[in-house]
Order: sequence, then structure tokens, then C-alpha cells
Amino acid sequence: MLRERLTEQGMASDEAGVQRPRRLRRTAGLRRLVRETRLTVDQLLYPMFVVPGEGVETEIGSLPGQLQRSVDRIGPAARAVADAGIQGVLLFGQAAVKSPQGDEASSPDGVVQRAIGAIKEAAPNLVVITDVCLCAYSDHGHCGVLDGQSIDNDASVARIAEVALSHARAGTDVVAPSDMMDGRVGAIRSALDAEGFTETAIMAYAAKYASAFYGPFREASGSAPTFGDRRGYQMDPGNAREALREVGLDLDEGADIVMIKPALTYLDVIARVRAEYDAPLAAYLVSGEFAAIKAAAERGWLDERAAALEALTSVARAGADIIITYWAPAAARWLDEGPTH
Ligand code: PBG
Repeated sequence: MLRERLTEQGMASDEAGVQRPRRLRRTAGLRRLVRETRLTVDQLLYPMFVVPGEGVETEIGSLPGQLQRSVDRIGPAARAVADAGIQGVLLFGQAAVKSPQGDEASSPDGVVQRAIGAIKEAAPNLVVITDVCLCAYSDHGHCGVLDGQSIDNDASVARIAEVALSHARAGTDVVAPSDMMDGRVGAIRSALDAEGFTETAIMAYAAKYASAFYGPFREASGSAPTFGDRRGYQMDPGNAREALREVGLDLDEGADIVMIKPALTYLDVIARVRAEYDAPLAAYLVSGEFAAIKAAAERGWLDERAAALEALTSVARAGADIIITYWAPAAARWLDEGPTH
């Protein structure tokens, strides 16, 4: 009552109970002291694209600043990533010759399998995580094996497990299945354990949505489906409860880390999974989310650094432990320079 009367008379005071959250926003020092979410370089994982050939270092048109590299060029690049303080990379490969079953995906001579060795040699402490999928290796561009025009789940799982095993044999630290077939995490775990790779971890793309924001990536990895779309295996964008179920299944099957993808358009899903599960949680700020901000910044419509750090902070605030981002090296630099505000 008193407070209302004083407010009416323009006399509101602290004594009268006016709450003043702005007090702690007054200086940069105060703001930094009370900041709830601290983004650090330790949280960031950097996606890298390995392609067939030699001496290849080609910028990806739709992902400005990101390169496709051949195996001979990947070591020095990974070394630079490690030197920037980043703890790990997520590797994506591509077939020289595509086939119905995506044979090269599990070949010991595949680009990813060879890149793992090159990276381990150049940057022995860098965590190597390898994407496990068929889409960049199959001639139809789908993430599994076809039975006519549809995806044969169990035949796909068998192939996916072979791919994961080939990465483990090549020395990867973590395999990351992104195909969204049912039961693949359990199949991968058994295949790895059966060959003694009990220490190879699994980061499951647990809730991967059928998103329009993968567009630029498909150009980068040559993985666009030649017919149809991925809605029969990736999740419907309207579903959040289903994401909790998918995460639960992957954890039951033996996933060590679960991932939500994309990140910015699914912050609520990240927050809900964080609230329900204690497992390490990753979120992937995907190509389209990166490219949208990048393009706006190129036009002078956004400040790239501020927008990127805000986007990354939002993903950490939502509850992700690990953030997979094309900005990792840039963010490492920016974070080193200190906060903007
Ligand atoms: C495919 C895969 C995709 C991405 C990671 N793994 C694309 C897709 O499902 O079509 C997207 C990554 C990005 O957009 O940055 N297995």
C-alpha cells in the first residue's frame, strides 16, 4: 500500500520496497560477477569436413570461412584447432565413389579412417569424434540402406555398426551416429565391445530433427537425398516429449553423451532434456543457424561476434554441456579477448 502511494507521488524508494535488479547491472564488473552462464572454450567442439583427393583446401560457399580438406591437409588444421584451446573435433567424411550401401563409409581406406590417424599424429591430445552415417557415401543420399523407396531400418543399423567399428579400429575416441535409425546405439555398443573397443564412447544424435537448417551442410558434405526427404527417420519439429523418449532409449542402449540438433530452434528441448536427465548433453548449432547469422553479418545487419556469442551463450544457458559449432575457433579467440560487456 505504502509503496503504491509513494509510487503514485513519484517518491518510490528502496525503503518502500521497490525492487531494483538494475543495481547489479550498473558496471561491467558487477555484471560479470553475477553472470549465471559462463561460456568457455572447453565446451566447444569443432566440425571439420574431410574429402577425397590431395592438396584440397576448398572454402564451402554456403559456410563462409569453413573448408573441405583432404587427409593430407587435415593434420595441420587440427593442430591449429587444438592450439586455439579447443578440446575436440567432429569429423565428417565423403565418398570418392558412392554406392547403394555406402561401402566407403566403413572402408579402412576411407577419408575419415585415414584422417583420424593424421589428426592423432598432429594433435595427440585433441578428442576425435567421428560422425557415423551413410548419407555422404550412398548414391541415394539417405542415411540408411534402401528397400525400394523406403529405408530398411535393421539393414541400416547393421551397416551403421560396421561404420562405427571401422572408426574405432582407426582410433577414434568417440563415434557419433547421426542416422536416427532405431536401435543403432545398442548395435554399435555391442559391435564395439565384441572387438574389445570398450573404451570407445558413443555420442548419440539422440533427438535430431528433420530441419530446414541443414541446407548448407548438405552442400558441404554432398549428402542431399536424391529423392524424398528425411522425415521418415528424423524427428518432427513439433515434438518435444518424443525427444525425451529418444534420449531415454539412447541412454538405455548405452549412449555416453546425448545430442540435440539443431540447437537454436530447439532450446526448449535442450532445457527439458537437461531437467530430465543427468547424462552429458551436447547441442549442435547447425550449418543453417551459423549461415543465417553469418550472412546477416556480411550485410552489416548484425555484429557477428556479439550475435555468435549470444547464440552460443543461449545454448549453454538452456543446459547444454557441449556445443558443436562452426564458430569454435573464432569463439575461442573472442573468449580469450574477454567478454564484450
Ligand atoms: C547427416 C548429418 C547432417 C548434419 C550432420 N550429420 C545433415 C542431415 O541430416 O541432412 C547436419 C549438420 C549441419 O547442418 O551443420 N548424417
